[in-house]
Amino acid sequence: MGPAAKRNEIRIERLDKSYAQPSAGELHYIIQDVNLAVKGGEFFVLLGPSGCGKSTLLGLIAGFVSKTSGAVRVGEKEVERPGQDRAVVFQQADSSLFPWLTVRENVEFGLRIKRIAAAKRKEISDQFIELVGLKGHEGKFPRELSGGMKQRVQLARVLSNDPAILLMDEPFGALDAMTRRTMQKELVRIWRDTDKTVIFVTHDIQEAILLGGRIGIMSPGPSSKISHIYDVPLSYPRDIADPAFHALHAQIQSHFDE
Ligand SMILES: Nc1ncnc2c1ncn2[C@@H]1O[C@H](COP(=O)(O)OP(=O)(O)OP(=O)(O)O)[C@@H](O)[C@H]1O
Ligand SMILES: [Mg+2]
Repeated sequence: MGPAAKRNEIRIERLDKSYAQPSAGELHYIIQDVNLAVKGGEFFVLLGPSGCGKSTLLGLIAGFVSKTSGAVRVGEKEVERPGQDRAVVFQQADSSLFPWLTVRENVEFGLRIKRIAAAKRKEISDQFIELVGLKGHEGKFPRELSGGMKQRVQLARVLSNDPAILLMDEPFGALDAMTRRTMQKELVRIWRDTDKTVIFVTHDIQEAILLGGRIGIMSPGPSSKISHIYDVPLSYPRDIADPAFHALHAQIQSHFDE
């Protein structure tokens, strides 16, 4: 394992998250005893039904949700707060875009903080604005965009920052089927071209198999845990018409039918 891979490794040990029940005074566990090791450079998918705690777990890794007990480590360091190394694509784009900045200014925000020169900023933002299909919309404000367009601005911004670890919470959920397919392909391409670690949350089995090197199944909450991990033995780019794809799909589906 190279130094970058070691640095981008994520280890979760006996992680619990609970909220106090307002009435009963007892603890209500959202996730309980989650253990997971994601290697640097891995593409790991978290798959589970709505409300099981996927966003909560991602928030714990990102550092903006505080744990009840256990540990999340990135490399040697324990996660205590959000950090530059871990970029998050939120489920709701609205919570992350600045309404008073244009598309281009939103995309360039992190680059500006890193004091990247204007010409270089433009080169990078041009590249990712084009990649997410928003060329021609650079001067618009978030209120002038559809939900899917806002989500793509968020994606362009996160990718422009070139983070070591990408935490993505159903990032393509608001997109139409065609755009979603394009973004899935581009994400796989970007990931394969770099040594990024990706943790990708979805409730869509097909999307999980299209993208993941491994897929962690989360059990329905409360007290959700990662009940099973599948290795995806398929090469990229993946083909949904492949019988092996179909077989894995059926196998994973059976978890949710039980
Ligand atoms: N701040 C909070 N206080 C109390 N309960 C919370 C809080 N945040 C989330 N929850 C509860 O935690 C559970 C898991 O929520 P979470 O958003 O992590 O699910 P999810 O798997 O991301 O769902 P979805 O697929 O619908 O996005 C839910 O039952 C939710 O009501
Ligand atoms: Mg969620």
